[in-house]
Amino acid sequence: MRVLGIETSCDETGVAVYDSERGLCAHAVYSQTEIHAVYGGVVPELASRDHVRKTLPLIRQTLTEAELSPEQIDGVAYTAGPGLIGALLVGAALGRALAWAWEVPAIGVHHLEGHLLAPFLEDKPPPCPFIALLVSGGHSQIIHVPEVGIYQLLGESVDDAAGEAFDKTAKLLGLPYPGGPQLARLAERGDPTRYRFPRPMTDRPGLNLSFSGLKTYTLNALQQTLGERDDTEQVHADIARAFEEAVVDTLVIKCRRALESTGVPRLILAGGVSANRRLRERMAAAMQPLGAELYYPRAEFCTDNGAMIAYAGWRRLAAGHQQPLAITPRPRWPLTDLVPLA
Ligand code: KG4
Ligand code: ZN
Repeated sequence: MRVLGIETSCDETGVAVYDSERGLCAHAVYSQTEIHAVYGGVVPELASRDHVRKTLPLIRQTLTEAELSPEQIDGVAYTAGPGLIGALLVGAALGRALAWAWEVPAIGVHHLEGHLLAPFLEDKPPPCPFIALLVSGGHSQIIHVPEVGIYQLLGESVDDAAGEAFDKTAKLLGLPYPGGPQLARLAERGDPTRYRFPRPMTDRPGLNLSFSGLKTYTLNALQQTLGERDDTEQVHADIARAFEEAVVDTLVIKCRRALESTGVPRLILAGGVSANRRLRERMAAAMQPLGAELYYPRAEFCTDNGAMIAYAGWRRLAAGHQQPLAITPRPRWPLTDLVPLA
């Protein structure tokens, strides 16, 4: 079965074709970063308008690269939520209309299920059950996955998502939007012993997370240092390092706790922040003494893309799920509302 996947929930247009026999046939992502950078964040109306311009040409391009014609597509998957309503509407309307015209089934995919299943696009997919750490710009969740389609929330951020914290802290350090990856690059030059930020909520039981307080520590460190040090660039690198260490350490502590309390010996990392090199290294080291396995997708499938939507859509279509003709995008859509596959 060949499924066309369309992702338009935020500021990336992603398109891919997944073949259940041969794997990924082709995929392409167009990022709107430049459009939003001048505003320091995503402007929803501009995002929708750009999806209108880019999605169909990207579908054409992807089909050409895959050397496939529309008659060879057996289903269409599009992101139905959560995300920006206008942006979601573009992919949903286009995806549903194409499926109708091509006389194939359509499926509205949950964006976070897409992220969670991205590691299945790799050569060695994780067996179930596993614990998933989903860390993106909009979400930070620790989820127990006994089988694909069943998602039990073990903990989540009570305020900022991990990616949001990266982006906001990057802004405080004068880095352009989206600052997460740039902050990570800056942190590589930072001295880890210079500042120490707290590991929020690790001193109490449970698996919830909180990252908004780290902004205050960043501001305080910046203000304290004014007048004390004149090597501003190094100050910024040292603070970036302290921030990254605090986020990574907190996530490691909570994931270790999740594996120990559930007895599940397997962790997957997903979402934009899982592209972070320090997080991957530190998590791998933490898994060793537990005898647990660690899985994560290649960096380009950590951030938003069409491949994960095509794959998740195929899993649901293959299980007999499909979308009626009406499109019902859901800007807010708890992952735990999803119905099991079988
Ligand atoms: O999954 P994603 O592309 O979009 C959402 O669904 O939110 O995640 C984007 C987030 C942004 O906040 C971005 O700054 C962050 O992931 N991110 C990173 C890195 N790469 C992307 N954060 C830290 N280190 C990175 N290397
Ligand atoms: Zn995402």
